[in-house]
Amino acid sequence: MEEFDLVVRDGWVATASEVVEADIGVKDGIITAVGKALPRGRRDISASGRWVLPGGIDSHCHVEQLSGMGIMCADDFYSATVAAAFGGTTTIIPFAAQHRDMKIPDVVADYAKRAREKAVIDYGFHLILANPDETALNVDLPAAIREGITSLKVYMTYDKLKLDDYQLLDVLALAASEQALVMIHAENHDMIRWLANRLLARGHKAPKFHAVAHDPIAEGEATNRAIALSRLIGVPVLIVHVSAREAIDTIRTAKQRGAAIYAETCPQYLFLTADDLDRNGLDGAMYCCSPPPRDEDSQAAVWAGLKDGTLPIFSSDHAPYRFDRTGKLPKGDATTFKEMANGLPGIELRMPLLFSEGVMAGRLSLQEFVALTSTNHASMYGLTGRKGTIAVGADADLGIWNPNREMTVTASMLHDNTGYTPYEGRKLKGWPEIVISRGRTVVENNTLNAERGSGQFLKRQASDALSSPSGLSMAEAREALRTIVEVGMKDERSEASLSSRRSSTRPYLTCR
Ligand code: URP
Ligand code: ZN
Ligand code: ZN
Repeated sequence: MEEFDLVVRDGWVATASEVVEADIGVKDGIITAVGKALPRGRRDISASGRWVLPGGIDSHCHVEQLSGMGIMCADDFYSATVAAAFGGTTTIIPFAAQHRDMKIPDVVADYAKRAREKAVIDYGFHLILANPDETALNVDLPAAIREGITSLKVYMTYDKLKLDDYQLLDVLALAASEQALVMIHAENHDMIRWLANRLLARGHKAPKFHAVAHDPIAEGEATNRAIALSRLIGVPVLIVHVSAREAIDTIRTAKQRGAAIYAETCPQYLFLTADDLDRNGLDGAMYCCSPPPRDEDSQAAVWAGLKDGTLPIFSSDHAPYRFDRTGKLPKGDATTFKEMANGLPGIELRMPLLFSEGVMAGRLSLQEFVALTSTNHASMYGLTGRKGTIAVGADADLGIWNPNREMTVTASMLHDNTGYTPYEGRKLKGWPEIVISRGRTVVENNTLNAERGSGQFLKRQASDALSSPSGLSMAEAREALRTIVEVGMKDERSEASLSSRRSSTRPYLTCR
């Protein structure tokens, strides 16, 4: 009997730290060897002239989920995971979304059933928390975290989801005591509401005014406040879908001072601008997401943030809504910018876009690409060792990329249900031709080969960020914390109290 079920042979194998020419041996869905001249497996795939990368992890995507406005997105777990797989992604982490009248256990049970029946690749869940009441904080969230839902998203804006600062502090304290990672949608709600109301009162209803209402200052202010709240509790946070230079500069400064702040960005902030919302008629609605695409200066800041570690996570924020009454245009031609569903599709093109414009265009190394699209997500969301790398013992989740394949993006070649792509007509270089999930060849010859429901739920560990909050050495962290404490508290503290402040759990703050 063969030692391997599958051998991927003669490829350039890339991880976040190196690129080597090697074979990969797979048994029972796990990588069991990486080396030269491995014996033949039951199946051999030649990867000669190809680049073999860890399957992507998309840790921010909305699937089969009701939005804050109560609109069901266009993709279910089948279409979303099929689209993800065709784009080189083998793990997704979408959101089991609590709305204010819903109980968390019901939300999770419903979402788990939907995923179990349809997903073709592996998946975990984050929670969206809209009602952090006593039951949620003391009972339901700890239970969900124990079940492997070790991250949750909270909103500083949207009428139906927004938490105030007091509630955010409660959530952060809970995250510290229960070892969960809090993801924050950081935009100043009242700034946006005030601007939007005035724009509408003056008859400015077109999609382009969405970008005016969601001013970069609103993102910058909320980002700064989220960081302050995180520092007060002493627990890391991850700011999601960062778009504006102002927010990026704020995050970078906080990190340089040793704060345990992590941040994510998405394709729309590299490849689109607010001008895209100013298209003919209501076409701009196809580019309407929150925060909105900005300008070329912010695009440059996003590239710089990806390169220097300020933005270690590159997710899609796939939030698919059709360009019709079910999504973008609930009131048809009369829909105002306040009424159109927020969000863009991107689950399939996330990796090809960054591969082409990042790696092939010389802006990122292949290792940086792997880190940004896969390895850092595993580390941030409690999947280290199992997902996000090519190493003995890891799941055999692989993308075999042809770096020379040229593609012109059209909506018709994609597999999600949105019906349009914001990247229509864009020319890309490099494509994942074969995609392998736990040793199964799920995409090959542009054909899907995976059953509905064959994806598995991932019970995730605590984020690595919680055990090594700032990613610094102990000595660096101590020095950085001294700066924060001295600047923030303006008083003298002993070494002992400084190191206790470093701890991500501060038990006296977890009492409610
Ligand atoms: O506009 C967006 N990003 N819609 C999706 C929901 C969210 O806030 O991530
Ligand atoms: Zn958001
Ligand atoms: Zn989102």
